[in-house]
Amino acid sequence: MKFFIDTANLDEIRAAHELGVLDGVTTNPTLVAKEGISGREGFKKHIKAICELVKGPVSAEAVSTRAEDLIAEAEELAAIDPHVVVKIPMTKEGLKAVKVLSEKGIKTNVTLVFSPLQALLAAKAGATYVSPFVGRLDDIASPGMNLIREVVDIYSNYLIETEIIVASIRNPLHVLEAAKMGADIATIPFKVIEQLLKHPLTDAGIEKFMCDWKKVEECK
Ligand code: E4P
Repeated sequence: MKFFIDTANLDEIRAAHELGVLDGVTTNPTLVAKEGISGREGFKKHIKAICELVKGPVSAEAVSTRAEDLIAEAEELAAIDPHVVVKIPMTKEGLKAVKVLSEKGIKTNVTLVFSPLQALLAAKAGATYVSPFVGRLDDIASPGMNLIREVVDIYSNYLIETEIIVASIRNPLHVLEAAKMGADIATIPFKVIEQLLKHPLTDAGIEKFMCDWKKVEECK
């Protein structure tokens, strides 16, 4: 299973990369705005900086609404770096754009997916990645992980190559369930990546070993 980090913060990306577990990055307009980036050129520079840090797929979101504008925007974003994957919203116009972009060899990540049929359509249009959002479904009392199970089943029925990015992850259980279901990728906020590596028995074990080692040293 691949791990992406869901952030536009360079320090978080660097820290996750140093852990040796990072395969890629996803951003969105909200995450970019949080970093205080200003203007189109500032955004493009920031995406380039992320690509230089990670050297894996980096999703940058297109914000146009019409297919032709999404295509032009995607071409501009894809020109930033070969690692850029263009995030396209799950709309009628978005699907039209994905079809054209896939024919041009530009990688896409269809975002804001909330149903298995949306995921099937995205794959049929030629999406490289699809991002079903689990946390936002949980937020409205609709179990988000059920969506992942359905998408995994449908894609495996038809040997679909579009990769599933479990998105809108809020906690370690989302990651665990996604791994058990065989989802290709989880895009995880930095806070949750840190939670994944912790266990109280590990901490207690280290404390005990350190304490006992002191006794060994004292015997020298
Ligand atoms: C996915 O690529 C999105 O950036 C992200 O996972 C959205 O998560 P949120 O629901 O926490 O905003």
